[in-house]
Amino acid sequence: MIKSKAFPLNCRCEYLKNPLAIDAVSPRLSWEMQDAEHNAVQSAYRILVADSTESLKANIGNLWDSGKVDGNQSFQIHYRGKKLKSSQTAFWKVMLWDATQNPGAWSKPASFTMGLLDIKEWKAKWIGTYLANSPACPIMRKEFKIKTNIKRALLYSTAKGVQHLTLNGKEISDDLFAPGWTDYDKRLHYRCYDLTKMLNKSTRHCLGAEIGNGWFKGRIASEHMGTTYGHRVGLLAQLKIEYNNGKSEWVYTDETWKTIFGPTRHVDLYDGETYDAQLEPKGWNRVGFNDENWEPVFLLRRAMPENLLLKPYPAEPVRITQTLKPIKFWSIAPGKVIYDFGQNFAGWVRLHFKGKAGCVLRMRFGEMVNKDNSLYIDNMRSAACTDTYVMKGVKREVWEPKFSFHGFRYVEMSGSPVAPSLNNLSGMVIGSDTTRVGHFECSSQLVNQIYSNAVWTQRANFLEVPTDCPQRDERLGWTGDAQVFIRTAINNMDVAAFFTKWMADLLDSQYEDGAFPNIAPDVLKSKGGAAWGDAGVVCPWTLYQCYEDRDILAKMYPAMKRWVAYLKNTSNNLLCDSVGCCGDWLAVNAKTPDTVIRTAHFAYATDITRKAAEVLNQKADVKKYASLFNAIKEVFNKHFVKSNGKIEGDTQTGYLMALKFGLLTPIKSKLAAKHLVADIRKKKMHSSTGFVGTALIMSVLRDSGNLDIAYKLLENTSYPSWGYSVVNGATTIWERWNSWTKEGGPGDVSMNSYSHYAYGAVVEWMFDTIAGIDHQGCGFQKFTLKPQPGGSLKHASASFHSPYGLIRSAWKKSAKQTHYEISIPANTQANVILPTKSIEKVKLNGRPLKKSGVEVDLDGSFCLGAGEYKIIWT
Ligand code: BGC
Repeated sequence: MIKSKAFPLNCRCEYLKNPLAIDAVSPRLSWEMQDAEHNAVQSAYRILVADSTESLKANIGNLWDSGKVDGNQSFQIHYRGKKLKSSQTAFWKVMLWDATQNPGAWSKPASFTMGLLDIKEWKAKWIGTYLANSPACPIMRKEFKIKTNIKRALLYSTAKGVQHLTLNGKEISDDLFAPGWTDYDKRLHYRCYDLTKMLNKSTRHCLGAEIGNGWFKGRIASEHMGTTYGHRVGLLAQLKIEYNNGKSEWVYTDETWKTIFGPTRHVDLYDGETYDAQLEPKGWNRVGFNDENWEPVFLLRRAMPENLLLKPYPAEPVRITQTLKPIKFWSIAPGKVIYDFGQNFAGWVRLHFKGKAGCVLRMRFGEMVNKDNSLYIDNMRSAACTDTYVMKGVKREVWEPKFSFHGFRYVEMSGSPVAPSLNNLSGMVIGSDTTRVGHFECSSQLVNQIYSNAVWTQRANFLEVPTDCPQRDERLGWTGDAQVFIRTAINNMDVAAFFTKWMADLLDSQYEDGAFPNIAPDVLKSKGGAAWGDAGVVCPWTLYQCYEDRDILAKMYPAMKRWVAYLKNTSNNLLCDSVGCCGDWLAVNAKTPDTVIRTAHFAYATDITRKAAEVLNQKADVKKYASLFNAIKEVFNKHFVKSNGKIEGDTQTGYLMALKFGLLTPIKSKLAAKHLVADIRKKKMHSSTGFVGTALIMSVLRDSGNLDIAYKLLENTSYPSWGYSVVNGATTIWERWNSWTKEGGPGDVSMNSYSHYAYGAVVEWMFDTIAGIDHQGCGFQKFTLKPQPGGSLKHASASFHSPYGLIRSAWKKSAKQTHYEISIPANTQANVILPTKSIEKVKLNGRPLKKSGVEVDLDGSFCLGAGEYKIIWT
């Protein structure tokens, strides 16, 4: 009997909704509890997993019936049922008991499907073309006949390069750049698509594929690695058709497929795409096309090294996530028009044109315009960033590239056969399709723009891997950038699966001696320096803290230990002077000595590894890393910290690391904080920090009692500051504090990106300090609401859709009071800490807090259960 309104929503498996290829033996199931009751908690759950929708409907968990399990766990519950087979779909649902032990209704059914669990199940053969060095992309086709009454048809496919697949001329999915970027010699991801509906329409079909270079064979690999991953792009695909009568058959890539080089004449991630629509063989990917003149495919016999990990893609694919319209255009020369999208983003332009066959449209992409309003391209370095389309001359032509993208706000178009118009083109925003979970808004337009810039920069750079920039000839998974930004990224989007994927890239790139790389996948072949290689420690720890992901921590733990061992082994009696170091990258006239950065990060990594050992119950390791941390701390103090608290180099970043990483005694902490503040004041309320220090400065100022100074930095508009880029027109976070100035124009072109998220790490502070939303160490079932208003802000509000539901924290100041509204999701609890000393004057939902029945701690903090609350303090 349903007695409760407790209802499970957002049922997911391994962070994904109804995933089609899971390879975890015991996949993790999660849901959110919906229950509008105040203090709603889940007192128990029951999960049913069945092998058919019918059984599930009849409440028969023939794969697994968890039975009634007491407790409030609703996230990451391991499947503990019968062993699951390759391609098997498991249908599941869950019901909850509320706080008063009343049962609620079953959730809507969800499912997860296992991937191909054994590499031997790959019947398909790798196919490519005889000619390996053509700049054009091969297209491939295969027609086949099937019977009727299909129960299910799953297509598994992967490529060396990136694939674009069609069935009977229709795109099989909206995934872009599949199978994505990994260290292809070690790991390759495959995708799985359900074609049941598409195939059930008739019995004759045609599979079509076009293969682009992607990361596999383009300049991105060759220029940095000195060699490509391989010279020949290829496809591996197999379609399993299961009939209602229990029989099944396969269609797969083999020698019967045909190929030619198609209309995509040239493609490179850096340089762009050239497409000659006149060369499109009409109907080539449909049934009935005459492919007599096509070549048979070439079998790539060595494409699958023995220990290659062929794994299902574990994250959200790259997709088009938004369409933008240009906001204006202007002509700069006869036949040359610049379109402005008003926003810097990653993606491409979709053309809607009418013209004669052979008409050549050329688009060049840039992030800025010069003083004369022409396109500024110097910062692209050698990346040509140019797409070319040769028209075929039909009534209305619509084209967009599929194997190359750009980071841009402006596009310069030449060769247009028609007068420029805002309707001729659309800006297609692309990126890993991670769900937006966070929003921040306050009374300062400046701060709102900084926030918006950080979100756009995340969207532009979370594209398969977390990259430094999306535009110039780089676009690499720089570890340092990712580790300073991960906490911010989590506030904005659900990046759990995205980072799960990148953790594997980090593992694949770890060196024999334990060094994590500078970038992952490691096409640079360079060992990570301090604060860069540390991503291998900081990222899994942050994922654990924000997503309670103990599994990822356990998986990364041995690698974390190896990194710490590497740092120790390369140290000189714990003084790190030989591992690489990018320094406090792009700091402003403030050189923090490399040894200080290295040794501080050695301590930091050791301390995190100790905490991980605690979580994983590795008692001996806890001791080991605790004493190592103390020993490094001693060395750090002996060599770098003077009795007056001055730290070698006397830079803000030096003080920030020492304070944040807990390297100082309480007395020296106070002194160091004074020196930090003195330096900020000396610089007329400016920071001098680079990538390393900027990620630390706001929280250290807050924690050392200097909230007012943090707000000053936040609201600064003079160089160097976040606001400086905003007043200079930024719509994304810039690589340098002065990437562009009104007086001087562009900054140092040798390295100057207008979409570089590292400094966007300040968003972490907007959430955890201005709005005050943060975890209490592990996940968001228990979290903190500690708003800390300041600066010129009159109101601020943030929401974060946590794994349990929506958390909201919004305050507004009036002349005498502050009104505070909060939402606490069902099955969670918040520890509320208000910025007022007069707790006796606080009102909760209109009643004095002290009379509201809520227990208030001596320090004035109090716990609230699920619900919406209105609080007022004076
Ligand atoms: C990248 C940075 C990176 C740095 C480290 C640059 O080229 O763009 O974001 O962290 O190199 O050396």
